[in-house]
Amino acid sequence: MPIGGENVPMSDWTRRELLQRASALAVAGTLPAGVMAALAPKRTISANDKIVFGLIGCGGMGSSNMRTFMNHPEVEIAALCDVDENRIPGDFKTVSDKYGKKPEVYRDYRKMLERKDIDAVIVGSPDHWHALHFIHACQAGKDSYCEKPVSHNIVEALAMTAAAKKHKRVVQVGTWQRSTKEFTDAIAYIRAGKLGKVVLCRAWITDGFKAGVQKPSTPPAGLDYDAWIGPAKMVPYKPNHVHFNWRWFMNYGGGMSTDWGVHMMDIALLGMSKDQDLVMPEECTAVGGNWAITGDDRDAPDVTEAIYRFSDPDFALHWSIGRDHPGKPGHGTEFVGADGRTLRVWRGGWLLLDPDGKELPKEEAPAAGDHWKDFLDCVASRGKPRADFASVAQTTIVCHLANVALQSGRTVKWDSAKNDLGTVGRDTEAYRREYRKPYSLPKI
Ligand SMILES: NC(=O)c1ccc[n+]([C@@H]2O[C@H](COP(=O)([O-])OP(=O)(O)OC[C@H]3O[C@@H](n4cnc5c(N)ncnc54)[C@H](O)[C@@H]3O)[C@@H](O)[C@H]2O)c1
Repeated sequence: MPIGGENVPMSDWTRRELLQRASALAVAGTLPAGVMAALAPKRTISANDKIVFGLIGCGGMGSSNMRTFMNHPEVEIAALCDVDENRIPGDFKTVSDKYGKKPEVYRDYRKMLERKDIDAVIVGSPDHWHALHFIHACQAGKDSYCEKPVSHNIVEALAMTAAAKKHKRVVQVGTWQRSTKEFTDAIAYIRAGKLGKVVLCRAWITDGFKAGVQKPSTPPAGLDYDAWIGPAKMVPYKPNHVHFNWRWFMNYGGGMSTDWGVHMMDIALLGMSKDQDLVMPEECTAVGGNWAITGDDRDAPDVTEAIYRFSDPDFALHWSIGRDHPGKPGHGTEFVGADGRTLRVWRGGWLLLDPDGKELPKEEAPAAGDHWKDFLDCVASRGKPRADFASVAQTTIVCHLANVALQSGRTVKWDSAKNDLGTVGRDTEAYRREYRKPYSLPKI
């Protein structure tokens, strides 16, 4: 695979030497932060400059984000990276056709991150890869549009937050509901106190997805399965464990509590907070398991009922992965007021109900604006995007707490003063995972 940035000027010889040293250490997770920081691009973006992107993970959402960014004239896509070369041709053609120039193709994201001309990356890999992709991008001085949930577990989310802060990176997370009208209207209504005191939030998803049953087989030509597994546990290859389907396996994701929880609980947390610094729960308890879908390879719970307790303000949050939610959309978030009124919001609308379920008039707020354009504007201004990393990391941690409670079978506590889990649940994979060697989570 080609290495970008070959036209290194003479003044950058020290940097080139560093690159040579770095390649000797280039086992994921072992590059010292100082070396990565020294490799960071010194480019600053002026108002008329292009924002040059590399895409990590040319799958469903990575490609979709790339195409959305390509609608903006200030964007250029210079590089594509995937460990499965079968996934690259579509994006390669789209980019070549649009810019009249071929993007560089990489299998190893670290080579892509060495490029000085790349300002930002789209992290569109499966969740188990986010932490390494994101932290190394921060260390290389790249801004990120990072997909949600931010991490596979809590410890990763904390390390990633520290990396974004330390390296002063602009990061937008792909929780685009933060920028759409129905959700911003609902959040504004709650924050303005128009529903009065809120005592309960509900968030839910209806989940009936089967992964099917497959036998181990040889990975297809072009897929570097060892690199796809990365820091996760090595298991024999099965087609129904990889692309898209990984989300039904706890080795790669957190099931629907993180996949959809991060969208729907995010709205509850934003409504109950003054700004992007979110209220965090004191404790969480959960029941659930693989109760509905049996005889399937899937191991992510298909039923979860989690209850969180918050104080300041006092309220409960109920998260549900359920079989059905009669009379309601298949996903949504509700705020229940002390007087019995309910605000319900989902993708496509929101409504206000009186205690008998009769619809009440509602009020709109100004539109927030495009989520992807918000990131581009913030890259140029060095501002804080609407789904800033630290904020969505908080939501992601709240989501992981449901899995920590489920995996430990106990009520778990969040210690806001220490910004860490209490003593119960620290041995769960939803809190911290053992990385497969030679991978390691960088210490920030
Ligand atoms: N914001 C949203 O609404 C939304 C919707 C869907 C998915 N997502 C998120 O987007 C991310 C990707 O999900 P998806 O459904 O597109 O997955 P996907 O499996 O379709 O795509 C992931 C791609 O990453 C590649 N990949 C894996 N390891 C890699 C590595 N080390 N380096 C480079 N590429 C690697 C895979 O080969 C694959 O092509 C997930 O975090 C998911 O939660 C967000």
